[in-house]
Order: sequence, then structure tokens, then C-alpha cells
Amino acid sequence: MPATLPDGDPVPADGALPRGATEGLGTRPFAFYVHVPFCVTRCGYCDFNTYTATELGPGASRDSYADTAIAEVRMARRVLGDADLPVETVFVGGGTPTLLPPDDLGRILAAVDAEFGLAPGAEVTTEANPESVDQAYLEGLREAGFTRVSYGMQSAREHVLKVLDRTHTPGRVPLVVDWTRKAGFEHVNLDLIYGTPGESDEDWRLSLEAALSTGPDHVSAYALIVEEGTRLAARVRRGELATPDDDAMADRYLMADEMLSAHGLRWYEISNWATGPGAACRHNLLYWTGADWWGVGPGAHSHVGGTRWWNVKHPAAYAARLAEGVTPAHAREVLDDADRRIERIMLELRLADGCPAALLDDAAVARAIGDGLIEAGPYRERGRAVLTTRGRLLADAVVRDLT
Ligand SMILES: C[S@@+](CC[C@H](N)C(=O)[O-])C[C@H]1O[C@@H](n2cnc3c(N)ncnc32)[C@H](O)[C@@H]1O
Ligand code: SF4
Repeated sequence: MPATLPDGDPVPADGALPRGATEGLGTRPFAFYVHVPFCVTRCGYCDFNTYTATELGPGASRDSYADTAIAEVRMARRVLGDADLPVETVFVGGGTPTLLPPDDLGRILAAVDAEFGLAPGAEVTTEANPESVDQAYLEGLREAGFTRVSYGMQSAREHVLKVLDRTHTPGRVPLVVDWTRKAGFEHVNLDLIYGTPGESDEDWRLSLEAALSTGPDHVSAYALIVEEGTRLAARVRRGELATPDDDAMADRYLMADEMLSAHGLRWYEISNWATGPGAACRHNLLYWTGADWWGVGPGAHSHVGGTRWWNVKHPAAYAARLAEGVTPAHAREVLDDADRRIERIMLELRLADGCPAALLDDAAVARAIGDGLIEAGPYRERGRAVLTTRGRLLADAVVRDLT
């Protein structure tokens, strides 16, 4: 999430959407994202919209957050009218959602259910930090209706976790995954980061091995991004920490793909692997395939029918708006057909299922096939542009060439 919010068009005080956005509501899948903007400490690499207790200041608190978020869920119902909108997926992210009691997360989920109705078999995920949950907490989440937990494991190497400012020990992850299974969760994701300064290829191999040994049905592996304005960026600039070069990063991606595949986790999006279609994160797939979603919380983004908006960033400003019955949206933009085409290419090309040929220029695709970046077979046989392994490594450049 960027440190500053983009400008955009103003949003009316009642949050009403442009007419075009609400046309077709209910014909596309519908999802909720709930942002929980609190952390115990801030990791040096992270520029997400999150606040420690000392950073938070007056006007917002963890204790009152669930009620504030519920007020936005009710506002969503008023804005979207009475269309039948069963919620396919809910994703609670952060920050550290598991700093809130499971009852609070459960009350937000219950409000989504009361206002819109959860679809049968809805996927309900929360992110969690390994140090922030115990067996009783996980049982509380399961009782509240959560179906999936996504842990920020990042690494199994102590020195790597230290550079990332993570506060859990490597041994904590197998323990919490075990508790998660015992609490009755079928779906567990582990987030990993590669390319941390000081991480060797062997450290990365050991982290992948440790993640796999816990038996997750989903793994996300992200290259570390040195975000402007973070403590990590300052340390890199001062020369205290060195980041790996592009070749080393590519090798680590390939190592992840090989080891995860060998253990039955197949890639379905460039940074995401799952044991089968039923284990892929349905919520993220909805984002990547143009569904409608409402993002609750400070700084959260929403998308309905080609209109995108984003909420005010600070939890106090967010709470004040909702207390006055005014939309927390900061600004919005309406995507035109050209924007929507580019967005679809950017998102769908990253999927193992690829992007429809109809969106692409044939000559540009022929060049990418010739360069070994797009698979020839699926394009000819199914009209889908699917990245090769080399294409995945160079995805940003491929997207630039095709848009
Ligand atoms: C923002 S965190 C929120 C969840 C939880 N607090 C945690 O840290 O695991 C979600 C995921 O984003 C990824 N992430 C955050 N900042 C990143 C960065 N600068 N580079 C790469 N991945 C990052 C991490 O893998 C993390 O697990
Ligand atoms: S715990 Fe997660 S959200 Fe919080 S500062 Fe660290 S990476 Fe960011």
C-alpha cells in the first residue's frame, strides 16, 4: 500500500456510486476485504497502512475498531441497495488482524453475513502473525466462521527474521500450523519472503523446506521489495545492508517453483502455489478476475463495476467519518475501457490460466512466443496467453510489451 493516497474524483458524502457501477450488481461475484491497521511493532521493510500503539494517537483504538468496521459494512449495504449480493469470500488482512480478539473479528464477519449473507461454502480468511495466536484463539476463529488462516512466516532462518524485524522464532511456525489444523482449519497458507539482505541460497532452501514440512495447502513467496521511506530502505541506502542482484533473485524464484512443485504445490499465480484448485485463494482470484469487492477499513480499496475508491488512511479520520455517518472514501476513479483492458492484462497474465488472446495484439504475442516468454500451445489451442517459466521471471517486462 503506497505511503500517500492517490488523488482522484470526489465521492459524495453518502458514498453513492455512479450509475454505471451499480448496473450488473449481483451478476459478478462479490467479496469483502477488511483491513485491521494495528501491529505491535513495525517491521523495517513494511509500508502497509498499520499503526503501533504509540503511532496511533487519539481518536481511534483497537477496542472500538470492530464497531467502526461494522458501521462501514452497514453503510456498504445502504450504498449497494437491495441487490442480492451473496458474499463469496471475506479476507481480513493487516496490519495484524489477530491483535483483535476472535470475538471482534467474528462480529465483523457476522455483520457481513447479516447485511449481505455469506454464500454457501464461502471462503473466510484471516492473516495472522505466528506470535499472535494460540490454540484457544484459533478455536475461537473457527467458531466465528473462519475457514482459512494465512501466516506471515517469511523465513525459517533466525538471522533473516532479525533483519526483517520479525518477532517470532522459527520454531513457532510448525507449532501454530499444528494448532490451526487441530482447531479444524483445512486451509493454511504460509507467506515467505526471499531476497532479504544476508539471506543465502541455502537459507532460502531451508526456509522452503521448513515451510513444506508443516504441510500447508498454499504458499505465497514474494521477492522482498525495498519500499521507499522504510527503515530497510534507509539501511540499504547507507550501505549497511546489501540486497541480492536480479540473477540471485531469479535463482531463488526458480528454487521455490521447483521445490514447491516437487511437493505437489503448483503455481496458479506468479507468487502463489496451491495443492489443487480447491486450495487456491478464492479471494485473490476474485481480485485478479475483475469481481466486485468492498474494502472496509482505513486506506482500504474497493472496486464495484469499474469504479474504484479508497478510504482515508488514518484510523482516527476513518472513525470520525463513520461516526458522522459520512462515507470514509477519500476519492475514486472510474475506469474507462482502455484502463480496464490494461488492468485485465496486468492481472490475468500473472495467472497459470493466462489471459484471453482477444485482449492482446497478435504480433506482440508472436514476438513474446518467439522470445520464449509465452507458451505457444495454450495460445494456439485455447486462445490463452500463458507465461513460460522464463516469462514469469520477466513478467513486468512482458506486460509492458503487451499493453
Ligand atoms: C503486510 S503483511 C500483513 C500480515 C501480517 N502482519 C504479516 O506480516 O505477516 C502481508 C504479507 O505481505 C508481504 N510483504 C509485506 N511487505 C513486503 C515487502 N516490502 N516485500 C515483500 N513482501 C512484503 C509479507 O510476506 C507479508 O506476509
Ligand atoms: S507485522 Fe506485518 S503488517 Fe505489521 S509491520 Fe510487520 S509486515 Fe507490516
